[in-house]
Amino acid sequence: MNKLLVNILLVCFIAVFVITGNAQTIVIQTQSTSLALRVNNNKQLQQLYFGNRFSDTSAYAAFNMARTPAFPTAGINYNNEPAMQVQHVDGNISLQLNYVDHSIEKPNDDITITHINLKDPVYPLYVTLHFAAYNKENIIEEWTSIRHEEKAPVILMRYASSFLSLNDNNFYLTHFYGDWASEMQLEETKLPGGIFNIQSKLGTRATNSELPSFMISPGKPAEENEGDVFAGSLAWSGNFNLQFENIQYGRSGGSLKIIPGINAYASNYLLKPKETFNTPHFIFTYTSKGKGQASRNLHAWALKYGVWNGYQTRQTLLNNWEATYFNFTQDTLVNLFDGAKKIGVDLFLLDDGWFGNKHPRHADTAGLGDWQANKTILPDGIGYLVKNAEAKGINFGIWIEPEMVNPKSDLYEQHPDWILKLPNRPEDLSRNQLVLDLTNPKVQDFVYGVLHNLLTENPRIAYIKWDCNRPMTNAYSQYLGANQQALYVDYANGLYNVLQRVRKEFPKLEMMLCSGGGGRAEYGALKYFNEFWASDNTDPVERIFMQWGYSYFFPAATICAHVTNWGKQSLKYKIDVAMQGKLGFDIRVNDLSNKEITFCKTAVDNYKRLQNVINYGSLYRLIAPYNNSAASLMFVDSSKQKAVVFAYNMYTKMGDQLQNIQMNGLDATKQYEVKEINLEDDKRPAFRQSGKIFSGEFLMNEGLGWYLRGSLQSSILELTEVN
Ligand code: DGJ
Repeated sequence: MNKLLVNILLVCFIAVFVITGNAQTIVIQTQSTSLALRVNNNKQLQQLYFGNRFSDTSAYAAFNMARTPAFPTAGINYNNEPAMQVQHVDGNISLQLNYVDHSIEKPNDDITITHINLKDPVYPLYVTLHFAAYNKENIIEEWTSIRHEEKAPVILMRYASSFLSLNDNNFYLTHFYGDWASEMQLEETKLPGGIFNIQSKLGTRATNSELPSFMISPGKPAEENEGDVFAGSLAWSGNFNLQFENIQYGRSGGSLKIIPGINAYASNYLLKPKETFNTPHFIFTYTSKGKGQASRNLHAWALKYGVWNGYQTRQTLLNNWEATYFNFTQDTLVNLFDGAKKIGVDLFLLDDGWFGNKHPRHADTAGLGDWQANKTILPDGIGYLVKNAEAKGINFGIWIEPEMVNPKSDLYEQHPDWILKLPNRPEDLSRNQLVLDLTNPKVQDFVYGVLHNLLTENPRIAYIKWDCNRPMTNAYSQYLGANQQALYVDYANGLYNVLQRVRKEFPKLEMMLCSGGGGRAEYGALKYFNEFWASDNTDPVERIFMQWGYSYFFPAATICAHVTNWGKQSLKYKIDVAMQGKLGFDIRVNDLSNKEITFCKTAVDNYKRLQNVINYGSLYRLIAPYNNSAASLMFVDSSKQKAVVFAYNMYTKMGDQLQNIQMNGLDATKQYEVKEINLEDDKRPAFRQSGKIFSGEFLMNEGLGWYLRGSLQSSILELTEVN
């Protein structure tokens, strides 16, 4: 059979187009999920069904007429929260979207993209709903594009990425809020009737206060391994709004409308004729197998499609931020390279404080914007550091914060028009800095140039940490002039323009996304980054919670976890916590004893040996830290031959019951040797059965008892299939 024919057959199989009576049904489906839409006699697109996939697509014929608009618009007869609202050139704020046609694209065996074209019958305004279905990963990615041919700009007042409806009488929302150093506080709450919004207005970053990712369980709160779960994540690095309208009245039963998109706050967007406005992508999954399966779906999608080079092997590293802050010289740095070598990591990461000459970056008060190495601190330049690191057998990486400027900088003096600040009100500094105006193409060129210059002058730089340390306040773009309502949207798109150029030129470069901690933990920016800095708070107990929270949406390979001086826990405990993410260190190796250095080196070797399992394996969360004094999770590789189990006691109390760790995700029929690793030489394994062989069935049903007596004890088990 030729390839085209195979593709056509696959398309018919995966994105089904059924004609039932006069109504047309469009089915977007993955291996286990279906979203069925129907066009009614009035050309209105309706959501017919969303949930577990039917084995037989003729099942859709049995559905009554759909009761839910698939993308409701404001101004005519829909009185709930709309997906879209515009003001036409004549001032009319009504919008009707009629089905026109749809097409199906099949970029590869796994992905089917359905494009549904809609049009207003009165105005030349066109909307396309795009649905990319990832078959194996059970993920659907949806976005909207808007275009018109009116005589002047149309005002986009609301422009959601998606509109989905779930039917039930109760809905439980799991979401995450926080602040600097306290990211990812979990809350699970029953949604009240009415409208509940999760949103941010931070401008430069999506999150920190609220994550644009969430889970919904209809009926009752979902468990880890069972229950219906809808998980969604908005890929957008700017202001977002996740709206949940819980409608529990009327004859048709209760339903929840999920309306994710850019936050329309201060963003009535002027869309010029014939230009296309693309909304951010909304990524979602649906499963009846609990939150664990929802996470595994998202992780599989993220590694393959969602983050930059998901399967690129991450480099373990030593960062100097907490070891030196701004206080270092060229020689101190070169000495620190020895520490990196001793503990066996791949790379040394030079953090903030290396640049600025007229206004040296001795503190966070000056220098941002002037990306030349400081001649006093680094008289021989960055090249000297790269060379010396390599001579010692490690790679070299560097920190930048290219979207920002300190008033004490050459850049501020030379380009006051490149800075976001109100012309007629005082500047509002945060961390002594202001935001550059990325809506301006010249500023985009500058920011891209920072990377281009640094990386072409020093082509062997092997890692970039890209920081963004303040949100927007008192923001005004001189470039946008009277069109300030475009600022928030155009800033994020300006950032993406820069990142696209950077990635085109430096595809293999490993890049960490940082925003004063976890301010940019979202898939809009992660499309260009390999990983993100989860929080400036590296206290291991707090990290157990944060990393657990992030794990609902992001794979371990993307969650940077460093061993630092935060917290009074043992070095082993700190390492055991950091090893469940992307491992790094931010310590003074010189302060460690030889025994501790050997311990670090062994742990780094263990991590590298197991990195594929931890970074790309399937995650099973076993004991949640919430309402517990312990936590445990494990990763299993795709062949189920290898697994790694992490177990932690946090603050235990007398009488705490130690549960057996019942594992998950193993092959019940396989035999596994269980070995505890990262053991301190004078200590016995906490798992007394270390070294013994058990069946997968035993490990998953009975599990292993653990002997982590007392607070702040941890252990890691390596499981290997034996014949
Ligand atoms: C904030 C980051 O989160 C830290 O890790 C560090 O890079 C500082 N910025 C440097 O200014």
